[in-house]
Amino acid sequence: MKFFLDTANIDEIRDAAEFGLIDGVTTNPSLISKEGRSFKEIIQEIASIVDGPISAEVVSTDAGGMLEEAYELAKIHENVVIKLPMVKEGMKALKRLSADGVRTNVTLIFSPSQALVAAKLGATYVSPFVGRLDDVSHVGMELIGDLVRIFDNYSFQTQILVASCRNPLHIRDAALLGAHVATMPYGVLGQLLKHPLTDIGLDRFLKDWEKVAKAGRD
Ligand code: E4P
Repeated sequence: MKFFLDTANIDEIRDAAEFGLIDGVTTNPSLISKEGRSFKEIIQEIASIVDGPISAEVVSTDAGGMLEEAYELAKIHENVVIKLPMVKEGMKALKRLSADGVRTNVTLIFSPSQALVAAKLGATYVSPFVGRLDDVSHVGMELIGDLVRIFDNYSFQTQILVASCRNPLHIRDAALLGAHVATMPYGVLGQLLKHPLTDIGLDRFLKDWEKVAKAGRD
């Protein structure tokens, strides 16, 4: 299972990259807007830190505009993956980019039929948003289960990139279902390592070790 970091913040990316755990990065217009810097500059800097797919999203609303943006973004670095919204114009752009061998990530997926359409049009990744589904009382993980089954039924090469992950349980459930990738905020990556019993256990070991050290001195 691959871990992508869902952020455009360079400090977070640098820190997470030191773990060696980050296989890629996903950004979106909201995450980019928080950084107050040029889009191109951010993507270039991310590419200099992480050696893996970096999703950069188009913001045009027509296929022509999306394609223009996509080819500009793809020029920034070979690891750039073009993120397209799951709308009709986005799917027209997807068909063309797939034919041109450009890697794509279809975002804002909330139903199996949307993911099926994107897979049929050759998307490299689909991004189902589990957290936002949970927010409106739909169990987001049920969608992941459906997609794993559907993609398996037809041996689609499209990878399921579980997005809008909000906590470690989302990562656990995505892994149990066999999703290819989970993208998560920096905070969730840190939470994956944590367990209170680990901290209590380590504290106890170190306190007991102090007794050994003290006995050695006596
Ligand atoms: C995915 O690529 C999106 O950037 C992201 O996961 C959305 O997460 P949110 O619902 O927490 O904004």
